[in-house]
Amino acid sequence: MAVTAESALLEAVRAHPVPAHVAIIMDGNGRWATQRGLPRVAGHREGVKAARAIVRAADAAGLRFLTLYAFSTENWNRPEDEVTMLMRLLEESIYRELPDLMENKVRLRVIGRTAGVPLPVRRGLEHVALETRDNPGLTLLVAFNYGGRDELLDAFRVLARRVQAGELAPDAVSEADISRALYTEGLPDPDLLIRTSGEMRVSNFLLWQIAYTELWMTPTLWPDFGPSDLYRAIADYQRRDRRFGGV
Ligand code: IPE
Ligand code: IPE
Ligand code: MG
Repeated sequence: MAVTAESALLEAVRAHPVPAHVAIIMDGNGRWATQRGLPRVAGHREGVKAARAIVRAADAAGLRFLTLYAFSTENWNRPEDEVTMLMRLLEESIYRELPDLMENKVRLRVIGRTAGVPLPVRRGLEHVALETRDNPGLTLLVAFNYGGRDELLDAFRVLARRVQAGELAPDAVSEADISRALYTEGLPDPDLLIRTSGEMRVSNFLLWQIAYTELWMTPTLWPDFGPSDLYRAIADYQRRDRRFGGV
């Protein structure tokens, strides 16, 4: 896409209120590689490049929060060599991205069961989260070893313990209590959820938080998804009428 067309799209998007929080299911890396006769990991490598460009584009568009689904609790079921390569790729990328995140004042936060993440990757993620903690710009949430049902389970356990300790009456448990017990504590729910690669499913992502999120699906495979695609999704969102069950 020509740069001029991309900046025209960006300008159009910035002329209206932008969603505060966009979440993305980055899907289709494997198919992208297979279509080119390449190993799946080549698709993941391109996927990292696409993610880097989208973080910048999200920042340029003025989003406050961007959540990227990087690895699900179900992705452990993939062949061992793909999982190993993915972990290695993530470990490399996270350190490589730090200077750029600092320069763009992006704050990184990780959501998921970090305890189940291999130590070198976990150390990298924790290091970058700590270094970028006070950055005032875009908050980038990376969902890693993330599962929506696990997140709810963890939240229900927190609440059950509070009830057992006598801090909370069962009938007093509120939606706000549940939201506060989730990994996304303190963050607004996503306004827009994007999924690439043509799949029409949620795949265990942010199950509680997407109750009223607008959905935008595209057949484009994740490595081919660029800033213009993000701006198109946002422009589409801006034309929608969110009713939240009202009129
Ligand atoms: C998304 O691409 C990346 C991860 C889930 C880690 P996939 O690897 O799922 O690619 P497809 O869906 O098989 O094409
Ligand atoms: C969802 O993609 C998870 C991530 C993008 C990290 P999957 O490729 O794992 O989802 P399914 O298997 O198509 O539902
Ligand atoms: Mg997939």
